[in-house]
Amino acid sequence: MKIGILGTGGMAATLGGAWTAAGHSVVIGGRSQERAERTAGRIGAAGHGTLADAAGHGDAILVAVPAIDAPQLVGSLAGSLAGRTVIDCTNPIVPTGDGLMLNTGSATSVAHQLATAAPDACVVKAFNLCHVSIWTLRPPRFEDLPLAVPYCSDHPTAAAATQTLISSIGCTPAPCGGLARAAYLEATAALAIGLWWAGGQPRAAFPSLAEVPQSLND
Ligand SMILES: NC(=O)c1ccc[n+]([C@@H]2O[C@H](COP(=O)([O-])OP(=O)(O)OC[C@H]3O[C@@H](n4cnc5c(N)ncnc54)[C@H](OP(=O)(O)O)[C@@H]3O)[C@@H](O)[C@H]2O)c1
Repeated sequence: MKIGILGTGGMAATLGGAWTAAGHSVVIGGRSQERAERTAGRIGAAGHGTLADAAGHGDAILVAVPAIDAPQLVGSLAGSLAGRTVIDCTNPIVPTGDGLMLNTGSATSVAHQLATAAPDACVVKAFNLCHVSIWTLRPPRFEDLPLAVPYCSDHPTAAAATQTLISSIGCTPAPCGGLARAAYLEATAALAIGLWWAGGQPRAAFPSLAEVPQSLND
């Protein structure tokens, strides 16, 4: 698949590296051509260029910039993004005295803001739950299971493209409903990252259904 990545930082390099290793054609787009070239070179990407170049290259576009900047950036590229799968991995979180909080204000989610900014793009929320370093694992497996990657989308074609991108790096797609539920993925990230920072184990809060003493139907 052709993938354009908006951003040249950690998520661009690790997810872009995983997709390149899986045989996809990745173009890294940045506002600094020097940083775009460096990131593309590090991962052996197919190419690099401006943010518009990356938007124009991809069947799927990964938005890997700070959440606060993503809606304006996506809006500025709306024409190029029309009809394409736009994957939002951003986390709109800020540290406060009471742990991490969402800073989406009255907006439901960043993903919803992106869909509003580029109404003809097919926005998907995905890849926001795991730390950037997880995508350097080939493949990401834990306790003998492939990593599950939850995603939300209103568009069947974009959902299918996202499933392909998840499966091709050895992970399991975990469909979580329509884009209205992206707010839950963003809130889950805020809660889980806050727990990790506090020294907790968020995964221990979700035991396998096979291990709970009663079936959900009892
Ligand atoms: N790090 C994680 O563990 C992790 C995990 C899940 C999700 N995420 C999310 O993924 C996104 C990227 O995170 P990251 O760790 O890759 O961040 P990062 O390493 O700081 O990279 C951010 C990238 O965004 C670019 N950027 C910043 N403002 C921009 C703007 N207004 N227009 C265009 N480009 C802009 C930066 O470009 P310049 O170099 O030009 O400033 C840089 O290339 C964030 O939304 C984050 O919440 C991160």
